[in-house]
Amino acid sequence: MFEGKSIVLGVTGSISAYKAVDIASKLTQGGAVVEVIMTEAAAEFVAPLSFQSITHRPVHTAMFAPVTDFDIEHVALAERADVLVIAPATANTIARLAVGLADDLFSCTVLSTRAPVIIAPAMDVGMYQNSVTRENLERLRSRGHIIVGPAYGRLASGLEGMGRLVEVGEILAAIHQVLGRGGDLAGRRLVISAGGTQEPIDPVRYIGNYSSGKMGYALAEAARNRGGEVTLITAPAAIPPPLGVEVIQVQTATQMRQAVIEKAAGADALIMAAAVADYRPEVAAEKKIKRRPGRLSIELTRTPDILGEVSGGLIKVGFAAESEEIVENATRKLRDKGLDFIVANDITSADSGFAVDTNRVIIIDRNGKVDRLPLMLKSEVADKILDRVAGLLAGK
Ligand code: C5P
Repeated sequence: MFEGKSIVLGVTGSISAYKAVDIASKLTQGGAVVEVIMTEAAAEFVAPLSFQSITHRPVHTAMFAPVTDFDIEHVALAERADVLVIAPATANTIARLAVGLADDLFSCTVLSTRAPVIIAPAMDVGMYQNSVTRENLERLRSRGHIIVGPAYGRLASGLEGMGRLVEVGEILAAIHQVLGRGGDLAGRRLVISAGGTQEPIDPVRYIGNYSSGKMGYALAEAARNRGGEVTLITAPAAIPPPLGVEVIQVQTATQMRQAVIEKAAGADALIMAAAVADYRPEVAAEKKIKRRPGRLSIELTRTPDILGEVSGGLIKVGFAAESEEIVENATRKLRDKGLDFIVANDITSADSGFAVDTNRVIIIDRNGKVDRLPLMLKSEVADKILDRVAGLLAGK
């Protein structure tokens, strides 16, 4: 995910510095070359050896030592970096960066880099609330730096308030977004639906399905990583939605229709990975239906076909979860709904379809070309789908 990327991680003196070890670990696991710069204060909280062991690279410490001999290595570091991340960034660090100090190697690196800079503040609530800190952050933001957080919560001082370092996932999402800026979906707006709709029967029951949301969420995440501006319209799912995308939560097919129609206006592509109910109870009972002797019938009515309804020059991609005659059924849906291509999968196979992390899909395009993909992770399937979407958009 971060293959071939050079990421400079600046760690400054906050108790949350231990979380930076996790950031360094996730980035390294993702294939990045991670260069850690620690301030002396940071090294009081976490040993440089922790970072060194994880990144397999020497850690640059003693950054606040005065610059006597201009260090070429650090200029090279600033030059090489694809992104510079400062996490955690203390109030002191933020103040130093805001005035553009270049009196030590850390500030020299930040000042001299042309790479995007992500700053994740962490401090006590009082420091954060101080207008000086607010002004400093505003200055950095207006200079194009990306500020992530801080979050609300319990602070090391025992107080509760704004000042916590955001979750590691949020910092990683910001890095993905920044690195994706030059991606093949940069500047493109994608609407992706996911999850399984729930159609109420009464206040406590609904008609649902086994969709976990995994395929749609993988698509949203992959599109984000390729620079796309993503709106994820999601019915209930088993996993949390990815960060760094606009998330709209819906429950029913009717609500999903409304959100999709609204967001598809002006979008470049619509990918409907949601398992949308084809039928819903005609009326949802206002009170809980009581158990009585004998049978109970629930009258069902058709839901609107969302994909079929959306038009307007955008790329349309559908999914077809099939248990028989996969290609025939999927091809019919492709035509009926006017799609650019459809992604069909066999839901009777244990390693493909609902709830699992893998999928074996067949992609059929409007010319009838059938492409059978091998078993892959859903994240890999997502990239295959987006390769096609990017290709179609480029050819428009
Ligand atoms: O007809 P079927 O439900 O199998 O079609 C599947 C495709 O159509 C999926 O992409 C699904 O998200 C979409 N769909 C829709 N509106 C519905 C039902 C399905 O857009 N009411």
